[in-house]
Amino acid sequence: MVDLGLTDKTVLIAGAGQGIGLASARLFAEAGAVVVGIDNDADRAAATGAVVADVTKRDEVERVVAEIDRVDVLVDIVGMARWGSILDLSDDDWDANFDLVLRHAFYLSQAVGRRMVRQGEGGAMVFVSSVSGLAGAPRHGAYGAAKAGLMSLVRTLAVELAGDAIRVNSVAPGAVRTPRVLAMSSAERLAESAKSIPLGRQAEPEEIAAAVVFLASSQASYITGQTLVADGGATAKFPLSVGPSEARP
Ligand SMILES: NC(=O)c1ccc[n+]([C@@H]2O[C@H](COP(=O)([O-])OP(=O)(O)OC[C@H]3O[C@@H](n4cnc5c(N)ncnc54)[C@H](O)[C@@H]3O)[C@@H](O)[C@H]2O)c1
Repeated sequence: MVDLGLTDKTVLIAGAGQGIGLASARLFAEAGAVVVGIDNDADRAAATGAVVADVTKRDEVERVVAEIDRVDVLVDIVGMARWGSILDLSDDDWDANFDLVLRHAFYLSQAVGRRMVRQGEGGAMVFVSSVSGLAGAPRHGAYGAAKAGLMSLVRTLAVELAGDAIRVNSVAPGAVRTPRVLAMSSAERLAESAKSIPLGRQAEPEEIAAAVVFLASSQASYITGQTLVADGGATAKFPLSVGPSEARP
């Protein structure tokens, strides 16, 4: 059996109440880790055993980090957005995206990073970004800009914390069939958009969780400062308007 080096490690997961965060919490637990989840939704927190806290508030982040015995791995899943075209977006929408995607990641990485440095035993951080930070998409402007900032934050953290044996990476998902996405998209719309994805479907939350656990594990011991794209090939593709026929060679 492959050793992931996660047995008895304490993993702090922000946004553990559903979707990718919940799938990650389950996979880390299966790998033998002690999982401490955080969620700002009281019902989801109660259903999953997560601590209720809003990670966009610095004092709440610092309280949770101070209350836990130790932290070996940070996983940050929080980061949903307010959509809108750049021409229509209000200042408030722009700020909301940067608060929810980027500012809270600064709070978490600072509180957990300081703690890991004090512990003196290294660690790993994995932030969930998005392909929206790598390529343009209508109405994803502020969200994508903030996710691109998150990937930049990951690179800088990786360089600054490498001397303390703390690795920092991100996973950039494409479309994922999380409860939130399923609630806002019809089955027809999901089927239609799946046609543009080379693998022909959206990801399941567990497939993104697998990438998160890999980057947090000792199997990724020489990987830091990177973004692992898990998008079914979507960003590897460009629309070929002229050229060879669609027929397979
Ligand atoms: N689902 C997708 O298609 C997709 C695609 C690309 C990237 N992502 C990224 O993946 C991440 C998770 O997406 P998801 O679809 O699983 O989201 P989700 O909304 O299903 O789950 C997010 C969880 O975080 C919690 N949360 C939200 N704000 C919080 C806060 N301020 N403090 C603490 N907890 C909070 C929510 O209650 C929820 O349980 C996000 O960063 C998103 O940008 C998702």
